[in-house]
Amino acid sequence: MTLAFAQEHKEEISNKPCLNQRDNSEIKHAQQGFYYDVMNGLQSPKKSLEAKYFYDETGSRYFDEICQLEEYYPYKTELRLLPKVAHDLNQILKQRVHVVEFGAGSVHKIRPLMDGVSAIESFLAIDICGEHLEACCMQLQSEFPNIKISALEGDFNEPLTLPESNQAYMGFFPGSTIGNLTPDQAQAFLRSAKTTLGSKAWFLIGVDTKKSPETLHQAYNDDKGITAKFNLNILQRINHEFNADIDLDKFEHYAYYNTGEGRIEMHLVSKEKQSFELEGETISFKVGESIHTENSYKYHPDEFKALAAKSGWHCTHSWLAEKNMFSMFLLRAGLE
Ligand code: AVI
Repeated sequence: MTLAFAQEHKEEISNKPCLNQRDNSEIKHAQQGFYYDVMNGLQSPKKSLEAKYFYDETGSRYFDEICQLEEYYPYKTELRLLPKVAHDLNQILKQRVHVVEFGAGSVHKIRPLMDGVSAIESFLAIDICGEHLEACCMQLQSEFPNIKISALEGDFNEPLTLPESNQAYMGFFPGSTIGNLTPDQAQAFLRSAKTTLGSKAWFLIGVDTKKSPETLHQAYNDDKGITAKFNLNILQRINHEFNADIDLDKFEHYAYYNTGEGRIEMHLVSKEKQSFELEGETISFKVGESIHTENSYKYHPDEFKALAAKSGWHCTHSWLAEKNMFSMFLLRAGLE
């Protein structure tokens, strides 16, 4: 495979290099971040864990399974909308663009764009799970030999320096991953993405819409219990990385739509009074005490456009899926 763009510009792209270029000290650093965040989250009065830690290899696999579930509409709905978006983008984008996908996962969503948008010159996929990403990009490169494809392991929340180019960058952030950030974090991310992508940039973002609490409830409480496994796997990851002994059977998955906040909340609720040791510290739980593991914010189109505008972007085009189940926005970097 020619991971041409990243290889040609290895020195210029700064975040974290691909897995095989990372040395032990960097891996240790990433682990220290995880230790610190886990200890901090579990020792807080309201216990929490950061949703980004769901995505180890097993978690990424569970997430792929969630996307195939009948109840989990966001993935399939967005995928059905993308050919229409690609068709329109093909008219809108008059010049060639470099696409940068934040949190690219298994790089499924870029395919309809690569099929339908002739302006795409190169594609840089960024994801926290580097090994999985590289394998997926390798496959993608064989399907689209005329587009320069590269993979970069890194946390998309961290700023990134891209090589200077005469062509515009277009950020791509599908799947409503922006909903896993609080509105303040989402604004900070959009601002930092604007700095990364530059003043000529476009940004295509997929955002889940507000809808009936019942539909939302089903999407995060599937009958097969895959979302529950995905949620509980974060404890398994802690067991693995801390060499700890948390009993997963003593916790249960709990997800509900908080209408006031406009978000799904996922929790792991302790079924009994219990405690476990972590790095020499005792973490104790009362019956019914929860660890808040994820928020998934839902936005009315106008709410999202206002949030983008506050972050230095203006919306030039937007798309709504059937029954208003999902939305996509094309943003342009605005002058401030
Ligand atoms: C990745 N993210 C947009 C998903 C969501 O819907 O918030 C993660 C997820 N959590 C439970 N199911 C899916």
